[in-house]
Amino acid sequence: MKENIEILISSNKLQKRIKEIANEIKNDYQDEEVVFVSVLKGAIFFTVDLMKNYLGDAIIDVVRVSSYNGENSTGNIELKIPLKKENIEGKNIVIVEDIIDTGRTFNYLVDYIGKMNPKSIKSCVMLDKPSRRVEKFECDYVGFKIEDLFVIGYGLDYDEKYRNLPYIGYIKK
Ligand code: IMP
Ligand code: MG
Repeated sequence: MKENIEILISSNKLQKRIKEIANEIKNDYQDEEVVFVSVLKGAIFFTVDLMKNYLGDAIIDVVRVSSYNGENSTGNIELKIPLKKENIEGKNIVIVEDIIDTGRTFNYLVDYIGKMNPKSIKSCVMLDKPSRRVEKFECDYVGFKIEDLFVIGYGLDYDEKYRNLPYIGYIKK
């Protein structure tokens, strides 16, 4: 890695906040089972850590959508790996994402999953960039609100690179 990477949120801070979110979710669902739908690829890291800290009944499922080329959103959401209706119907769904930016991905997913008749749908993100919203969307569980910065690490990529950084950072120009 040649670029100069600045740390925005350390690994310790991320892990501490994830434990808090896991407890918040458990409080809301108590003894009911939750299906964590991880939005590939970016949310893999967050989903794994969230589930390891979740002290209740939980199932994992995955969906893959993409809308990004490099730093610029195309605005079009493409469904690359779909969900199966039988895994969603009648269940409590928590959509787990790495970051919410324009809000397009979440609106698309809530609409898509909603058509599969879940018992409930909630949304959970590690990072929220509220200043970038194009479509209105409020997440139920938010790790950190951040300013308008293109961030990398902990699942987030820049042209598929840097996902494996254990912290959230940005490339210093
Ligand atoms: P939205 O549909 O615009 O809300 O964007 C959600 C998706 O855009 C995320 O799942 C990320 O893949 C990508 N994204 C948005 N902001 C960033 C960023 O700062 N770094 C890396 N990916 C980002
Ligand atoms: Mg993504």
